[in-house]
Amino acid sequence: MTVELPDDLVDALRTAERVVVLTGAGISAESGVPTFREAQTGLWKQYDPRELATPQAFARNPRLVWEWYQWRRELIDKAKPNPAHYALVDLEQYIPSFLLVTQNIDGFHWAAGSRDMIELHGNIARTKCYDEGVLVDTWDDDIGVVPPHCPHCGGHLRPDVVWFGEGISSHLLDTAVEATASSDLFLCIGTSAVVAPAGSFPLVAKRNGVRVAEINPEQTAVSMMADWSLREKAAVVLPALMQRLGLSSNVLGGTSEA
Ligand code: OAD
Repeated sequence: MTVELPDDLVDALRTAERVVVLTGAGISAESGVPTFREAQTGLWKQYDPRELATPQAFARNPRLVWEWYQWRRELIDKAKPNPAHYALVDLEQYIPSFLLVTQNIDGFHWAAGSRDMIELHGNIARTKCYDEGVLVDTWDDDIGVVPPHCPHCGGHLRPDVVWFGEGISSHLLDTAVEATASSDLFLCIGTSAVVAPAGSFPLVAKRNGVRVAEINPEQTAVSMMADWSLREKAAVVLPALMQRLGLSSNVLGGTSEA
């Protein structure tokens, strides 16, 4: 599929020294993982993710929230990174100073080979103790005990992801904001940009004179401030951009060398 790429965006990528990329659920859409605000399916259709991904929901019904994340883990385990994830691995290797900031918890960027990255909202593959906050790798998998209990303190286990109303590590946040403010180019890919603080990063870029390119089939609040707004799927645009830069080692979903 051919896609029209603005020559000045290709030139900006060719000459950029420092690039920051923000991704959201849309970059995993072509991996078959539903985006965060897409209607859920099956028995989860009746629930709004924003009512499940909260400490209050977990305190009220830990079993329901744990089982929802198990359902999402199974979706993710059946899926894999798509050419958009691999294209960002190529870009990371091409740009002198690169930082990927993802809101996604699916681990696909790491699996594709990205390494200079921040998982702002955690990772669904990791589990931690609800009470102590420490990561837990193994626990007694008693069938009837859902969620499982922490082997150290007996408290509930929970996914190591950021829930609504929970804070984000100030270190990660400062790193992301400082990198954005001092970058040459900011790419905003597959996010509705409605959730703080990540949703404000495009504005941080603009306020610091950094040009912003958005890749999203839909219009978002970023679209009107972006210097380029490509109304297209990430798995179409990113590989095409990498090929214009003469990079295509990882794009076809091959194994990443990183
Ligand atoms: P959303 O579901 O809010 O937005 C996904 C965006 O991806 C939408 O704007 C879609 O138009 C776009 N999209 C869909 N398919 C795409 C494709 N093939 N290529 C490019 N874009 C595509 O998900 P996020 O913006 O990631 O946080 O949501 C941000 C945060 O809100 C999530 O990380 C989650 C949620 O609260 C927490 O859980 C803390």
